[in-house]
Amino acid sequence: MYAQSALAIVLLARSATAKVCMNMTVPVDISARTGVFNIAVPQTNLDATTFIQNQTQQGRNFTEFALLDYATTSGRYNISTQFCMPSAGNATNPTIQILTHGIGFDKTYWDLPYDNCNYSYVDVATDAYNYYTLSYDRLGIGNSSHGEPLNEIQSFLEVAALAELTMMLRKSIFPGVTQKFGKITHVGHSFGSAQTYSLVNMYPDISDGIVLTGFSMNGSFVGFFGAGGDFIQANLNQPFRFGKVDTATVLAVLNMFSLTDLVAGVNAAPGLDYPNGYLTNSNINANQYLFFLPGFFNPCILLASEQTKQPVTVGELLTLGSLPAMNAYAGPVLVITGSNDLPYCGGDCLATGDPAIASIPATVAKNFPMVSPSNFTAYIQPNSGHGINFHYNATGAYAVINSFLNSKGLMSI
Ligand SMILES: *[C@@H]1O[C@H](CO)[C@@H](O)[C@H](O)[C@H]1NC(C)=O
Ligand SMILES: *[C@@H]1O[C@H](CO)[C@@H](O)[C@H](O)[C@H]1NC(C)=O
Ligand SMILES: *[C@@H]1O[C@H](CO)[C@@H](O)[C@H](O)[C@H]1NC(C)=O
Ligand SMILES: *[C@@H]1O[C@H](CO)[C@@H](O)[C@H](O)[C@H]1NC(C)=O
Ligand SMILES: *[C@@H]1O[C@H](CO)[C@@H](O)[C@H](O)[C@H]1NC(C)=O
Ligand SMILES: *[C@@H]1O[C@H](CO)[C@@H](O)[C@H](O)[C@H]1NC(C)=O
Ligand SMILES: *[C@@H]1O[C@H](CO)[C@@H](O)[C@H](O)[C@H]1NC(C)=O
Ligand SMILES: *[C@@H]1O[C@H](CO)[C@@H](O)[C@H](O)[C@H]1NC(C)=O
Ligand SMILES: *[C@@H]1O[C@H](CO)[C@@H](O)[C@H](O)[C@H]1NC(C)=O
Ligand SMILES: *[C@@H]1O[C@H](CO)[C@@H](O)[C@H](O)[C@H]1NC(C)=O
Repeated sequence: MYAQSALAIVLLARSATAKVCMNMTVPVDISARTGVFNIAVPQTNLDATTFIQNQTQQGRNFTEFALLDYATTSGRYNISTQFCMPSAGNATNPTIQILTHGIGFDKTYWDLPYDNCNYSYVDVATDAYNYYTLSYDRLGIGNSSHGEPLNEIQSFLEVAALAELTMMLRKSIFPGVTQKFGKITHVGHSFGSAQTYSLVNMYPDISDGIVLTGFSMNGSFVGFFGAGGDFIQANLNQPFRFGKVDTATVLAVLNMFSLTDLVAGVNAAPGLDYPNGYLTNSNINANQYLFFLPGFFNPCILLASEQTKQPVTVGELLTLGSLPAMNAYAGPVLVITGSNDLPYCGGDCLATGDPAIASIPATVAKNFPMVSPSNFTAYIQPNSGHGINFHYNATGAYAVINSFLNSKGLMSI
């Protein structure tokens, strides 16, 4: 059973909206096959760049090159979650959406407080569509347990945590949640979509419907992401939030980086204390390049996203592309990707070079051979980069996602 001390249960009602949310730290006992990599954990910014140079070198698969063996990693980890319910709270056969964020963010990607929550996905899902939501910080990130960044915090261990959270909701043993859910759906962004894809392949009955945002199965452009991020050690980049503050670090940050990053989280206590091997994009310009389409976002939300960004481990970067080509899942699938997505479309989802292929995300249909054509939709969100939720028309995408789930008989009633 769960030690009461492990549960930080907080009920709150937002002033800007009526949804009711509960913050909860949930311990999970999980196990997964992880890769054992034959490189040293990058200790400096020079090492971090070397790692990216290795990863982006054409003509070889660096994951395969560095892979020595596989091991089983097991443990008890804390997952920091936020459970939200619609204010009406009258559903007799409710559906929950489990929301998995991508690289660079934490669970707040789904509930951005910016501009009075006008960008909040959770607000739309709960109060416009009556869904329940569970968002969480992926294992290794934010307020969830951190770990060794090369051979521990990898994609498949995180997928195991997602599977465990899902099973707790299915069996009505999720701590603090008495509600029973007839249907459970999964919505991911980017790396969170890749993990959702892996989850339903491993457990084809675990989800009643999936939505993969900011995603495709075309790996041709992932190098743009690695290179464009100009990734460096997180604890040197935002020392107040991510590391330890001393004069040498502050001077190094001032010399190398931006004031935005230096002052981010200046009052953060105790700070997230990430070890070396947790990398982050170097500055706001790299953040723009990775996630934002010029002309279609408020520069202030870019600044907010830089100030609240989260890192990525080298183990995650080595395992994010390890996806089976043929997925065993048979339920409804929506892939929704910004028209100008960088990592999954190279900046233009419609430039396929073949008039018979409508878009790069549309080709994901062939990765789901068990899904009937009527259960698969690929949608290109106009005027949007990779970070769909940050763009002016984010709520347009939210309507597409929730209408899709409703149209597949998954509505929360
Ligand atoms: C989980 O959180 C509890 C309560 O804060 C703490 O006592 C425990 O050490 C944490 N476990 C891990 C694996 O971080
Ligand atoms: C709950 O977590 C969110 C982040 O997901 C945070 O903004 C909020 O302040 C937390 N609420 C409380 C009462 O701690
Ligand atoms: C980069 O790759 C070389 C081999 O090409 C390897 O010796 C080195 O350990 C790698 N370093 C990092 C940080 O990935
Ligand atoms: C639940 O409440 C909402 C808002 O008051 C209402 O629109 C909806 O019809 C209600 N649903 C049921 C099943 O009573
Ligand atoms: C954002 O929310 C505020 C109130 O919370 C509202 O006045 C404003 O019109 C909203 N802006 C947009 C763009 O929806
Ligand atoms: C993490 O915990 C801190 C301290 O309780 C809180 O201020 C912050 O909002 C939390 N962030 C997330 C993403 O849960
Ligand atoms: C690279 O190698 C890893 C480990 O063998 C494998 O899982 C992954 O699918 C490969 N990636 C590509 C693009 O071939
Ligand atoms: C679509 O998926 C649902 C849920 O798995 C299933 O019940 C339905 O039969 C599927 N539709 C078709 C046409 O296969
Ligand atoms: C990825 O997309 C590009 C541009 O549309 C295309 O040329 C390439 O063939 C695609 N690769 C795969 C593996 O589908
Ligand atoms: C906003 O998004 C919706 C859903 O994709 C779309 O129908 C609409 O045309 C978009 N509006 C603009 C101005 O891009």
